[in-house]
Amino acid sequence: MTKFLDLGAQPLANSYIIKKNLNKKEKKFNLSAGFNKKNYLVSILKTVSKERMFNSDYPYKSSESKTMRSSFKILANKIKKIYKPKLVVEIGSNDGAFIFNFDKKKVIGVEPCKNLARKTIKRKYKTFSNYWDVKLSKKISKINKADVIYSANTLSHIEDLDKVFKAINILLSKNGILIIEDPSLLKCISNTAYDQFYCEHIYIFSTISLRKIISKYDLEIFDLENLTTHGGSNRYYIKRKKCNIYKIKKSVEMEVKKEIKYGLKKLSTYKKFSKKVKSSRKKLLEIFSRLKNKNIIGYGATAKSCTVLNYCKIDGKFIKYFYDTTSYKINKFLPGSKILIKKYKKLNVKNIDYAFLGAWNFKKEIFNKEKNFLKKGGKFITHVPFPKII
Ligand code: TMP
Repeated sequence: MTKFLDLGAQPLANSYIIKKNLNKKEKKFNLSAGFNKKNYLVSILKTVSKERMFNSDYPYKSSESKTMRSSFKILANKIKKIYKPKLVVEIGSNDGAFIFNFDKKKVIGVEPCKNLARKTIKRKYKTFSNYWDVKLSKKISKINKADVIYSANTLSHIEDLDKVFKAINILLSKNGILIIEDPSLLKCISNTAYDQFYCEHIYIFSTISLRKIISKYDLEIFDLENLTTHGGSNRYYIKRKKCNIYKIKKSVEMEVKKEIKYGLKKLSTYKKFSKKVKSSRKKLLEIFSRLKNKNIIGYGATAKSCTVLNYCKIDGKFIKYFYDTTSYKINKFLPGSKILIKKYKKLNVKNIDYAFLGAWNFKKEIFNKEKNFLKKGGKFITHVPFPKII
């Protein structure tokens, strides 16, 4: 593993602070990333224990995003129509945004964060509130084998990939398919979206790395879709090598070619990326310094913005407060930068000149919502793909 990126001391990204703890010392860890030349895998170098990150205080809820709800619904309909599964298992079922699209008898959720698992259990969806591992996989296999295993934005959060795929191999039926969805390394690197790196994102997968990793478990990618969610993701359709039902589609080779052409197999690409990250910080700070006397707020107190704010050392001196729609985050403070998060209100040019796009991955949805603000001369600041005012 060769280190190529250092984002400094960072707090845990989703550890929003309550007022009475504002003066308490925060636990920080060094956020750096490396490249493995053997399997092309990019990962963070120091990890935080899963119990510290994924517990009954987990704030992220997929159902709160219209974009995610709609993406899951479309996929669920496709799965029902094409694969007609008797049992679907979702690893990381969060608050049910995906599994609620299925008949209760035909789907099982796995969600270690108890506050989230409670939401699906309450609606009588079978949910195991455990971390994904071989023991759990064997337990579910006794109920039935899964014809579809789905996992969105979860496998990249689990450190021991060997155990992940061993457990999947136990549960997946003979001709079953595994669908994985995670941020795309190609998108992250080409957009200088360095905020994809935070404690929970242990890995940022590329097709070339995932292909190598799963091959050991006799699995192969047979189809792939580029998604716009989470700042550019890939959805991989995976089957057992022995299963001949599905042909390997051109989409896979096309993505592999794109990744190789961009240089994802070469360490020099990551070193270049690291330089761009430094220059991105410089440019973003220049923008903030130039706008010193303006009313600037943040829009979307994302885990990603935690990386940006702490790496660039942007705090309450630059950004007055953040707006966010997630009830759990409201009246809390962002980790590290300690900027207050307020309940979202439509932006108004009367008291806001600029809004820093923490949730840049929802730019389209947000710009649509804030049409009036933009029309009246309100502006956004973004750092992706490079720092600029929009
Ligand atoms: P994510 O990037 O991790 O999906 O988190 C998105 C965050 O942005 C989440 O806390 C909700 C917030 N958000 C808003 O506050 N307003 C919006 O219009 C959108 C789309 C997201």
